[in-house]
Amino acid sequence: MNRITTNKTSKESKSILNLDIRPLSYASLLEAFQVLREALPSDRRWLIDLLASLNPWKGIGLPWLGGCEYLRYWVSIEKNRVVGVTGMYIPRQTPESISWLGWTAVRPEIHRRGIGKFMLDYIFQQAKSMEIATLAVYTSIKHPKAIAFYQKLGFFPGKGKGNYLVYKKTLL
Ligand SMILES: CC(C)(COP(=O)(O)OP(=O)(O)OC[C@H]1O[C@@H](n2cnc3c(N)ncnc32)[C@H](O)[C@@H]1OP(=O)(O)O)[C@@H](O)C(=O)NCCC(=O)NCCS
Repeated sequence: MNRITTNKTSKESKSILNLDIRPLSYASLLEAFQVLREALPSDRRWLIDLLASLNPWKGIGLPWLGGCEYLRYWVSIEKNRVVGVTGMYIPRQTPESISWLGWTAVRPEIHRRGIGKFMLDYIFQQAKSMEIATLAVYTSIKHPKAIAFYQKLGFFPGKGKGNYLVYKKTLL
C-alpha cells in the first residue's frame, strides 16, 4: 500500500494529509461513485467503467473501450473516507506500451492539496512496473483545471477530436 503525508495549505484550512491508495472494491464503490458524481457531475460513463473493473471479464462489452486487456481502479483514502478515484486501462486495440488513465477525480472541497498528484504518482509507478512506456489521457476543453493538472504532471498535448483532447506522458 502506498502512503503519503503532506502539509499543503488550502484556502479553508491547513491540514496534514495521511493518504493511502487501495484497489477499488465493492465496499468502496459507492463512495467512489459519490466522489465522481461531485467532481464530474455532467458525466455518468464512469459508473459502468468502475463496475466493469470489478468484474472478471475486465471491460468486455464496453462499447467506448472496445474491450480491455487491463482495467483497474483505485481509491485514495484519508481517515477511512474515500477522497479520490483513479484508474488505468489498456484497450485491446491499443499499440503496445501505451496505457490510458481512467476516470480521475478528487472531492471538490479538497482540491489542490496534492491528492491528485499522489494518485497519479501511484499510476506512474504501476505503469512503469508493467513496462508501459507512455500513459495517455482523454480530457476535454471543458476541463481547463484538469488540463493544468496534467500539464503540471508532465503530460503534453497529442491529437484530439472535437472537444476531446489527448494528453500523453512518457514514462520509460
Ligand atoms: C484534476 C483533479 C483530479 C486534480 O486533483 P487535485 O488533488 O486538486 O490536484 P493536486 O493538488 O494534486 O495538484 C497538483 C498540481 O496540478 C496543478 N493543478 C491542479 N489543479 C489545478 C487548477 N485548478 N488550476 C491550475 N493548476 C492546477 C497545480 O500545479 C498543482 O500543484 P500546486 O497546487 O502545488 O500548484 C481535480 O481538480 C478534480 O477532481 N477535478 C474534477 C474532475 C476532473 O476534471 N477530472 C479529470 C477529467 S478528464
